[in-house]
Amino acid sequence: MDVQLQGRLLIVDDEKNIRRTLQMVLADLAAELQDCGSAEEALRLMREAPADVILLDIKLPGMDGIELLGKLRKEWPDSEVIMISGHATIQDAIEATRLGAYDVLEKPLDRDRVVLSIKNCMEKVTLNRQVAQLQTRLEGQFEMIGESQAMRHVLEEVRKVAPTNGRVLITGESGSGKELVARAVHRLSKRAAGPFVKVNCAAIPAELIESELFGYERGAFTGATNKKKGQFELANGGTLFLDEIGDMSLAAQAKVLRVLQTGELSHVGAEGTIQVDVRVLAATNRDLKKAVTDGTFREDLYFRLNVIPVHCPPLRDRLEDIPLLATRFVEEFCKENGFKRKEIEPGVLQKLKRYAWPGNIRELKNVTERMVIMSGERITAEDVPEQMSGDVRGMDVQRFDGMSLKDVRDDVEREYIRSKLDEYGWNITKTAEKLGIERTNLHKKIKQLNLKRAE
Ligand SMILES: Nc1ncnc2c1ncn2[C@@H]1O[C@H](COP(=O)(O)OP(=O)(O)OP(=O)(O)O)[C@@H](O)[C@H]1O
Ligand SMILES: [Mg+2]
Repeated sequence: MDVQLQGRLLIVDDEKNIRRTLQMVLADLAAELQDCGSAEEALRLMREAPADVILLDIKLPGMDGIELLGKLRKEWPDSEVIMISGHATIQDAIEATRLGAYDVLEKPLDRDRVVLSIKNCMEKVTLNRQVAQLQTRLEGQFEMIGESQAMRHVLEEVRKVAPTNGRVLITGESGSGKELVARAVHRLSKRAAGPFVKVNCAAIPAELIESELFGYERGAFTGATNKKKGQFELANGGTLFLDEIGDMSLAAQAKVLRVLQTGELSHVGAEGTIQVDVRVLAATNRDLKKAVTDGTFREDLYFRLNVIPVHCPPLRDRLEDIPLLATRFVEEFCKENGFKRKEIEPGVLQKLKRYAWPGNIRELKNVTERMVIMSGERITAEDVPEQMSGDVRGMDVQRFDGMSLKDVRDDVEREYIRSKLDEYGWNITKTAEKLGIERTNLHKKIKQLNLKRAE
């Protein structure tokens, strides 16, 4: 494989000629190429900007290569070191390898051998970095964030039900974290090492769901040229997550019910049955109880699935989680896009906390991604999408129940003035202008309504 090398390369050798030759040979292999004649100088250069691969002579004036190697491995474990040795004693080579050198090359240097070693080494560094990136992404992807009462309650329920074999029915609006809950239950269960298989019941046509879930024998129907395992079998020893279960046809519901009752299934077109050990989790954003009343969902299946209900609260009921979530998402998206971490101005969070979030956390995630990409060095109130600003239709009038009209007016006034103040960084002139009132009047209101600037 021919890898495009982007990394930084540092050559450390006290012989000027060797450095010059290596510079020429390796010029095309690195994005940046530096060289120096001593270990001390190498350390200085590394502190300035670490190289990805260091080509290091063992014999050096002052601190020798082996000692430097030890320091490099300790301080910059993500960089790799290739040793060059003049009168290669086996002892040196062994010691270098023991200390974690990637390779040991002997002088006189063979051009092809050097190039190959550096290429392979660069590839390793790149792969390691990618793996680390994917790892943080994966971990971040399945981590549930939230410190609100509502979220802590969900986390506690997950922790309680996970180690059992109990069936869990996860309810909640679109984008509220149902799949995340299902994955958390699996990850914290005794089945964590087994498979987690997700089936989106809404996405599979009614006539295919049976063969998809239970598999089929060769010749079971036209096109069944080979025997195929179903999702239930693929989840054997693990967890099967039936997403959007409310969209499953009544016929398929009957078959799922039978597996849940007996733990046995048969392939489409097969005589015998197969025993499976599967924990079933289901999720829906529909009101299943109502579907039962309407006759579109089997009551017996509903009770089988709903042994332990877990409800994901909508984001608007836990607006206090927004700063934490938004901050984390911004961090993740900055990392993903290779941006320096962007700061979020308080006015942004104020705005986000005032929106009704019909698309819940997924919508918040999309909005933060967009803000990260579109903003400058900091994310300011100007970067918040238009539709998120002052959506009065999303206002919850119930919270005014039992209040006098004057209190309601004060309440709304306070919130609106505060939002505008935050939006304009508490610039009185600008805010007053936007509100269409005099500056003195705004000062008076701030005092009257006891408004304070958030830190
Ligand atoms: N508590 C949370 N902390 C961090 N991220 C979350 C949280 N809840 C949800 N998310 C993220 O929000 C997005 C939507 O979550 P998820 O897919 O679990 O929702 P859902 O309820 O299954 O949605 P849908 O009904 O549309 O399938 C995902 O990217 C998920 O990682
Ligand atoms: Mg989902």
